[in-house]
Amino acid sequence: MCPRRLGARPLSSPALNLLRGTLVLLLLLPPCCLASSRGLIRPGAVWRDQQGRPIQAHGGGILYDHHTWYWFGEDRTQGLDPALRYVSCYSSRDLVHWKFRGRPLQLADPEHLGPHWVLERPKVFYSPLTHRFVMYVHLDDARYKLARVATAVSDRVTGPYKYVRSFRPLGLESRDIGQFVDDDGSAYLIFESRPSGGFYIAQLSPDRLSVVKAVAFIHTSLEGGALVHDHGLYYVMGSHLTGWRPNPNVYATAAQLSGPWSEFREVAPDVPDTYGSQSSMLLKVHGTDKTAVIFLGDIWKPRSLWDSRYLWMPLQMRDGRMVLPSPAPWSIDVKTGVTHVYPDSSPSQ
Ligand code: DGJ
Repeated sequence: MCPRRLGARPLSSPALNLLRGTLVLLLLLPPCCLASSRGLIRPGAVWRDQQGRPIQAHGGGILYDHHTWYWFGEDRTQGLDPALRYVSCYSSRDLVHWKFRGRPLQLADPEHLGPHWVLERPKVFYSPLTHRFVMYVHLDDARYKLARVATAVSDRVTGPYKYVRSFRPLGLESRDIGQFVDDDGSAYLIFESRPSGGFYIAQLSPDRLSVVKAVAFIHTSLEGGALVHDHGLYYVMGSHLTGWRPNPNVYATAAQLSGPWSEFREVAPDVPDTYGSQSSMLLKVHGTDKTAVIFLGDIWKPRSLWDSRYLWMPLQMRDGRMVLPSPAPWSIDVKTGVTHVYPDSSPSQ
């Protein structure tokens, strides 16, 4: 007699029918309904972490460390202590599923700025010199007159981060900040500086604790500054200064960071408002087959900031042009760098 192998019990025919039916149903379903099972990013939808809670990482920045992406951002969760400002951290190995790693910075008003003080756009840099992590944030008073950055450090990427100091980079007013790490490892802070009518790309010191020199000043008033280096060209991006309201985000290119920079062009030329979003970062995913450049943007809801959403989309990069396509669910294989957009699916849930 043939011995029966464990787990190889034949399926009864009702069970087989059920299995067949489920498979047929799965094949017929449009991709939008398979968001989690197929690992889709859905721009504009509520994006939940692995515990099922909406991701709170607005105006964020991403750090890649040991095969993991860390997403830091403003935590606007309702009901937190109104005297404190919170930076949250999430980690992911596929850019789709994010694990909440806590609030590595929970800061009380560090410069006596008053009850409505502002902490925005956290960005974390790694220092290969000190092996420490340095967080930059935009620090301000309620009227945005202070115009400084603040720094905080940690030995671990997920914190806790210890407040260091606040200052104006290179002595200049600084509001929105962006981060950029070049392929050679050098790190830059992008900061909008209103009196000059433009923004700076400034190099950080090897310990990442100070801003040492302006590599470029771009004489165009833009905030939400972001930068990427792709196929030998630098692309800098930003939004116009319209508060929380979206506007046509623009980009320029240069062969070198110091310029000369091209004229600015709209990244989403078919719509007036960048699909309701504002740039926060340009993320490069270098895979075995392709390099994807991803637009990371915020869809702000100023009256309910906790419910602000994210617009992440792979950019179409061709011949020195970058185009943000119409938002739609999409997937990425972070190993190959291949992205796939499902344009017929509903962009929100
Ligand atoms: C636009 C900036 O990009 C945001 O980070 C925030 O500072 C709002 N302005 C406030 O109006």
